[in-house]
Amino acid sequence: MSGVQSKNTALNNAVNMTFADDVIKGLSLPQKMLPSRYFYDAEGSRLFEDITQLPEYYLTRIETEILRAHSRDITKDVAAESVLVEFGSGSSLKTELLLNTLPMLSAYVSVDVSNAALQEAADRLARHFPDLVVRPVLGDFWQPLSFPPDIAKHPRIGFFPGSTIGNFTHNEAAKLLTKFASHLSLGGRLIIGVDMKKDVQTLLNAYDDSAGVTAEFNLNLLTHINRELGGLFELAKFRHKVVYNADEGRIEMHLLSLVDQNVSVCGHDFSFVKGETIHTENSYKYSIDQFQTLARSAGWHPHAVWTDELHQFSIHELRLNTISHTNQL
Ligand code: TRP
Repeated sequence: MSGVQSKNTALNNAVNMTFADDVIKGLSLPQKMLPSRYFYDAEGSRLFEDITQLPEYYLTRIETEILRAHSRDITKDVAAESVLVEFGSGSSLKTELLLNTLPMLSAYVSVDVSNAALQEAADRLARHFPDLVVRPVLGDFWQPLSFPPDIAKHPRIGFFPGSTIGNFTHNEAAKLLTKFASHLSLGGRLIIGVDMKKDVQTLLNAYDDSAGVTAEFNLNLLTHINRELGGLFELAKFRHKVVYNADEGRIEMHLLSLVDQNVSVCGHDFSFVKGETIHTENSYKYSIDQFQTLARSAGWHPHAVWTDELHQFSIHELRLNTISHTNQL
């Protein structure tokens, strides 16, 4: 085995140990849960792209609409030679809308946990923006980010679309925004997409589509565990379940056990009673005020907000170390 291969194997083992620990810990809780970052194996990333195209999944469509309508305004005073840093870049499709109106960037740094997604996006961007320097970073955006020396001193602008911030509790979200502030202290701005509170049926439909793609995405988490950790989940014995938790202001996704059963994962046995669930995802919804309050608590100044006519989705610009301006709404 070559040095590189053995290093990669060691790295994969370490990654799978964390995965195994997280799964065992999560399934041992009274309310079983699994961390949502494990949705995104290659199949999960593919299914997620399908979700974004669903008629019921308004988030991507409306966020794209807002970016299309306002990208010139959103990027109007970005310094030349800035570095655009996207956290959880996935397919980087929305990024193209910003790139169209951004001045010459010194680089685009895409951070994602899916190597396949990073590579595919980098190849497409190379065709669409031949002059753009793309620096894919494989990893989770909670980890420290090191910038290549040639771009380390350039002003940074962060991009965090898709309402991914909504997939964290308020506490975690504040921590993540603080972490982004440290990644982006040079340049100090963040463009972030945030889904808004709205009628419950619209929300439920977005996370429980009629074609069953979101159900497949949710269940694929069990397939991922079966494959990587030798789990013995039988997918036919679980069902996708979505609820809106009004007290918390969040959509919750669960996997509901259809029968009493025991499931073995990594040598541990987990028992389920019929109707019991594994909580797999949260998607918090924010009013503009609520999100601005959260941003302030993490040291950011709300600078501007763009939204659609029906106020379904919002794109916030946050800044560091600048005098806060009144928001544009
Ligand atoms: N952040 C998006 C949202 O909350 C995307 C997302 C994360 C998602 N996990 C999901 C969408 C699960 C559908 C199902 O909507």
